[in-house]
Amino acid sequence: MTDASDPAAVPGGVDSTPSNREFMLEATGLSKRYGAVHALADASLSMRPGEVHALLGTNGAGKSTFVKILTGAVTPDHGTVLIDGVAQALGDPRKALAAGIACIYQESNLVPALSVLDNVSLGAQPVKSFGQLDRKTQRAQVSALLEHHRIYLDLDASVQSLPTVQQKQVEIAKALARDARVILMDEPTAWLSQVEVQSLFGSIRELTKNGICVLYISHVLDEVFSIADNLTVIRDGRVVLTSKVSTMTAASLAQAMLGRELLAESATQREVGYLESAPAALECRHLSQPGSFDDINLVVRKGEIVCITGLIGAGRSELLQALFGATPASTGEILVHGKPMRMRRPNDAIIARLGFVPEDRRDDGLMMSHTIRDNLIAAHLGQVSRGGIISRRSARALATRVVSTLGIVPARIDMVVRRLSGGNQQKVLMGRWLAGGTDILLLDEPTVGIDVGAKAEIYHRLRALAEDGAAILVISSDMEEALTLPDRIVVMSLGRIVAEFDKATATQDAVLEAASAGVSGNV
Ligand SMILES: Nc1ncnc2c1ncn2[C@@H]1O[C@H](COP(=O)(O)OP(=O)(O)OP(=O)(O)O)[C@@H](O)[C@H]1O
Ligand SMILES: [Mg+2]
Repeated sequence: MTDASDPAAVPGGVDSTPSNREFMLEATGLSKRYGAVHALADASLSMRPGEVHALLGTNGAGKSTFVKILTGAVTPDHGTVLIDGVAQALGDPRKALAAGIACIYQESNLVPALSVLDNVSLGAQPVKSFGQLDRKTQRAQVSALLEHHRIYLDLDASVQSLPTVQQKQVEIAKALARDARVILMDEPTAWLSQVEVQSLFGSIRELTKNGICVLYISHVLDEVFSIADNLTVIRDGRVVLTSKVSTMTAASLAQAMLGRELLAESATQREVGYLESAPAALECRHLSQPGSFDDINLVVRKGEIVCITGLIGAGRSELLQALFGATPASTGEILVHGKPMRMRRPNDAIIARLGFVPEDRRDDGLMMSHTIRDNLIAAHLGQVSRGGIISRRSARALATRVVSTLGIVPARIDMVVRRLSGGNQQKVLMGRWLAGGTDILLLDEPTVGIDVGAKAEIYHRLRALAEDGAAILVISSDMEEALTLPDRIVVMSLGRIVAEFDKATATQDAVLEAASAGVSGNV
């Protein structure tokens, strides 16, 4: 670090005298290189107390790198960070925490088996004189804290038993217990449903009333418009725009992020009823799995895109897993092109020419220590080999084509997937199936974490695949996606199909109402 001031001289990193400075956080000239990649180049951003500031940019733009510098996880090559006017030591997570910077990531950082109470006060528990944990004080302190910030949680519930949105609230409470004043949220809503997002926004508004400032990263522009006051857009590591949210539109934001206009949605509208005569590609009858889903009857026709939407816990992912044989259903029938098939393991599904993009890409989908090329060709060995031998040239051509269509950055097919940003990893996983070669495609939240430009490309590709005769079944909690991508929308709630809409007649209100009917106390 090439910091001129000496932040190490400040105990704990924070000046204890109250400050009347305008900004709570001032990050100036942050730069970070990874070899040839300039992840962040001279990026600056300031936040006032009580402000929600959105940090936007395409996949690989440098958003997470910015956050990691603030949390001390990454040491910048250059730059300074002031909290309340006081220069911070960089590259030291404990000092960042002590200075009041806390971060809520997409993946939970909690201890699942421990209670809410213990998670919130972990590492900051009050102790009695003999080093014993002071349970009474601990409970009183945490209760008062939650009360003050209007966070309503059962202190004794184990974290793993809570819905995702409440787990996020536990993380917020944990940050507050450490006197956080700057809370960073890196795609906090990636796995939340529409209703849960609103609940998280309620918590964010309470935080800002208390003078806390929030840096908010998301690829969902609607969220930015409803929660943020100001925004900064970074492109290729550089700040290209800082603005009030109220002066921006979705189109102007997309343009700032992409550096060009967003492709107009050119999906051809087919006539309603066009698909009714198409043969069923995938069908299930009375499919059940106790505790997950019950008596599911569903048809996806050749050339059709069907979207299953619903709240978290509706049983959608479990259904997809069962269709793919990952966790077989206990009763009911699955038919592929009209023929009953037993899906006892994923291999049965692969033989039947099904493709599957799971929700948890890190655990289930990608070979993290392999290259982009190896990951992309994994599902297409037939296409790129002859007589069982992989042709390097075909593999390279296929991988290069997918990398350029989806705009994977860096556009180097020999890059190890682990080094890619979150969204670019997701693009690789999607790209594997978008190259074609399957009759039936099952996609679980395919565009979570993917930027607006690449999303449009993916929709385009999916539509083209369907027009070539593929049947596509998508799970999506993104309401805009659920309403625009598919031909038909199926709503699941508590393990059952509760409604079905034709694309032409579906409205956001009707779909949301169907999804939450019969569900109470969930959010
Ligand atoms: N440890 C690393 N080694 C090499 N390159 C890295 C490393 N970490 C990040 N990068 C690169 O730095 C760039 C910025 O990555 P970053 O994770 O900050 O992007 P992001 O804006 O958060 O993207 P996303 O929206 O996909 O999450 C990317 O090109 C990424 O590949
Ligand atoms: Mg990121």
